[in-house]
Amino acid sequence: MLSYQHMYHAGSLADVHKHVLLARALAHLTRDASPLLYAETHSGRGRYNLDSPEARKTGEASAGIDTLLRDKRIGKDEAYLAALKRFQGQNNRLYPGSPSLAAQILRREDMLWLWELHPREHAVLQRLFDRDKRVQVFHADGTLGLPLRLPPKPPAPKRGLVLIDPSYELKGEYDALPNFVRRLRQRWPHAAGLLWYPMLPAMRHEAMVAAIRGHGADLQVHEAVWSEPYAARGLFGSGVIHWGIPARVMADPTFTIPTLLHSGTSRVGDASL
Ligand SMILES: C[S@@+](CC[C@H](N)C(=O)[O-])C[C@H]1O[C@@H](n2cnc3c(N)ncnc32)[C@H](O)[C@@H]1O
Repeated sequence: MLSYQHMYHAGSLADVHKHVLLARALAHLTRDASPLLYAETHSGRGRYNLDSPEARKTGEASAGIDTLLRDKRIGKDEAYLAALKRFQGQNNRLYPGSPSLAAQILRREDMLWLWELHPREHAVLQRLFDRDKRVQVFHADGTLGLPLRLPPKPPAPKRGLVLIDPSYELKGEYDALPNFVRRLRQRWPHAAGLLWYPMLPAMRHEAMVAAIRGHGADLQVHEAVWSEPYAARGLFGSGVIHWGIPARVMADPTFTIPTLLHSGTSRVGDASL
């Protein structure tokens, strides 16, 4: 049974880091006139309330998006900021999950395939996109469902972007992901991709990142670190492995979130921050 609930973490520093990079990737890929297919294996419910009891309980949104916006710490040219404002409209306590952020940036001719396994989260997501003809929502395991539909057949666009954003609550998820990414890249070579991972003091991400980077020189890592690992009880940083998007788009130094110890393509301990 899945117990992870993203409501507690929506708008956290890690969420914003992932969403800023997702928006950069989508803004870049939608400069090309041909349609794009956005596929997400772990979608969540797509929309969150920053004033919900769950968000208030952890205070992660308050330390995350609320602080980053108040201190003007997100570059004004970030595609993320424009999409966030469009999504929020008059209600700045609403926060877009990655499917909503993507739907804001994607064009009329693009498509979205969204997987979510948790029944309640899936139901909310399904309702949210009921009237958006670009979107298909699947109640299934995204790591099984997406490969079955690859390579995409017309009318789905050939070009794509995949976001893999697991909750890492099941034993073996870190170990299974390198193989999943390898198969995905083989079956859909026309897709770019982003894989988010938590940076926790147990450092379980390190072996996974090393294994995935071993697949090819085109795989890049972008990490945002806000605490020293030994000082952290929970997350000390957020990481994204990406491929198919130029490193300069993802690592542009004018587009960093400057509140953190560091962010960018360098790894913890690197001298070149
Ligand atoms: C980190 S949350 C997703 C957050 C979302 N990507 C965002 O940024 O707004 C992970 C979600 O994956 C769901 N989930 C867990 N395992 C899954 C699987 N194998 N297939 C599809 N969804 C899964 C969980 O129920 C949870 O809603």
